[in-house]
Amino acid sequence: MHYTGNTDQSSARYWNDLAKLYQKETRISTSDFHYGPLLPGDSKLKLLPAIGTPFQCLEIGCGAGQNSIFLAKQGAQCIATDISEKQLAHGRKLAAAENVTVNFRCISMDSLREGLLREGLLPDHAFDLIHSTYALPFSADPQKVIADAAAVLKPGGTFLLTTGHPLYTGEWLDIGDGEEGLFLPDYFRPEPDVRISPDGQTLSAAQTWPASTIAEWLHSAGLLIERFLEPEPMPIPDMSEAEVRAAVPYESNGWRELYPQLTRAPIVMLFKAVHQNF
Ligand SMILES: C[S@@+](CC[C@H](N)C(=O)[O-])C[C@H]1O[C@@H](n2cnc3c(N)ncnc32)[C@H](O)[C@@H]1O
Repeated sequence: MHYTGNTDQSSARYWNDLAKLYQKETRISTSDFHYGPLLPGDSKLKLLPAIGTPFQCLEIGCGAGQNSIFLAKQGAQCIATDISEKQLAHGRKLAAAENVTVNFRCISMDSLREGLLREGLLPDHAFDLIHSTYALPFSADPQKVIADAAAVLKPGGTFLLTTGHPLYTGEWLDIGDGEEGLFLPDYFRPEPDVRISPDGQTLSAAQTWPASTIAEWLHSAGLLIERFLEPEPMPIPDMSEAEVRAAVPYESNGWRELYPQLTRAPIVMLFKAVHQNF
């Protein structure tokens, strides 16, 4: 199969096919805000702004919306968007089980403002917080996603973006004496990570960009970067199962196997930016 780039149609098919397995194999907490595999949640990183009343949130590429459900539990009004109806269906079930209201909508991040308008969910500058955890890598037009997010953020509002780290696209090689080192062919033009769906029918690619490229996209969108983090994983081997459950909001057996690599190269980078025009 030949990879020709993600489109709304190919992404919807790929993620609809993967949704059941993804939600079954990954333990994603709704009691903390997660940023990625084996990483500390917001109870440790403390990047979320204080939740006022009212407090309007928008999640981009929400999956089953565990982060939106967490925010809704704190009293926020949450819209959670994704391209995959199957992922959204998991989210609706989970929110009902947790007894909270989250407005789940099928909107592509690549036409975010158009989608919000179509669904009657705008005026502009509507949101106090826009957040997205590892969805941007699947965008066909990431700079537009950031510009659209900035346009619908309230002046002074927060954009919390977690996206893939280009270093993690490197390859682990044996460098002698049983030691592994990371080989990165090109930091400035990282190769996409092309994946095949469980039914073998669709391809999807996760793309990363240099940290400075994302920073420039945020700057051009009128956002001011307040924090930039490359978080290290929690010390999983030193923790009991109960401690992992309590303090690691996103994990799976597959991710635990990758712990040694995760301790040596950041898998995500995390930007907290604020809308400057106020
Ligand atoms: C790695 S998952 C992350 C999901 C969720 N943020 C989490 O942390 O569990 C990536 C998500 O991006 C969604 N996605 C992919 N392409 C998209 C697009 N064009 N618009 C909106 N969501 C998209 C997928 O359906 C999937 O739910």
